[in-house]
Amino acid sequence: MEDFLNQIRNDHHNFDKGQLSDHIGNDPFVFFHQWFKEAFDVKQPEENAFVLSTVSENGQPSSRILYLKELDDQGFVFYTNYASQKGAELSVHPKASMLFFWHQLERQVRIEGIVEKIDSASSDAYFSTRPRSSKLGAWASHQSQKLNSRDTLMDRLEELAGRYPEEVPRPPHWGGYKLIPTQIEFWQGRPSRLHDRLIFERDSIWSSDWKLFRKNP
Ligand SMILES: Cc1cc2nc3c(=O)[nH]c(=O)nc-3n(C[C@H](O)[C@H](O)[C@H](O)COP(=O)(O)O)c2cc1C
Repeated sequence: MEDFLNQIRNDHHNFDKGQLSDHIGNDPFVFFHQWFKEAFDVKQPEENAFVLSTVSENGQPSSRILYLKELDDQGFVFYTNYASQKGAELSVHPKASMLFFWHQLERQVRIEGIVEKIDSASSDAYFSTRPRSSKLGAWASHQSQKLNSRDTLMDRLEELAGRYPEEVPRPPHWGGYKLIPTQIEFWQGRPSRLHDRLIFERDSIWSSDWKLFRKNP
């Protein structure tokens, strides 16, 4: 085996940066907010990056990284192209999982739930804060469609820059989704692989009756 692969194979990382008591309150949004802030405070690079997994019509899962842009006491908001692969999959199965990994804190958070488009006024509000180049990029990229060449994309960008010399409106196919969770797992690495896992679960997105339990690591 190659040396680096051997080193990786024999590296047994010991997780010892924290622990999770049973007393983490009764509101997973409050606790997520606390962990998110701690990830920010320790300067965890890309603390708002998460893996979004969706499923295709025939049950094939697919995953990609996105940025979390907003959170409130209902759910977690991200922005993308509604006509992308993920958008098409969400229109058939409006369910997804989000996974955060905060390496510096040896933590992961697994979130599962239902995904809804946010209202267009909220998408407009966020789109208007983006740099001009990103706004034009949202128009230029037919996200997830086949692209003949990089030049095709750059030509489209140039054409769009001419079409919108000042304000760039939000493309109708671009906007936010909110994942409304039914389950959130907080995972804290512990020594000897005896990690702490605390799970909040509720029957539906309308319930405020969260059950909290622990799982084997
Ligand atoms: C760190 C990072 C952040 C990203 N953030 C976003 C994002 O917020 N929205 C988005 O549409 N794509 C984002 N992407 C690109 C996606 O990972 C993905 O390539 C794109 O959304 C197309 O996915 P799809 O074809 O599965 O729909 C990001 C990629 C990385 C590496």
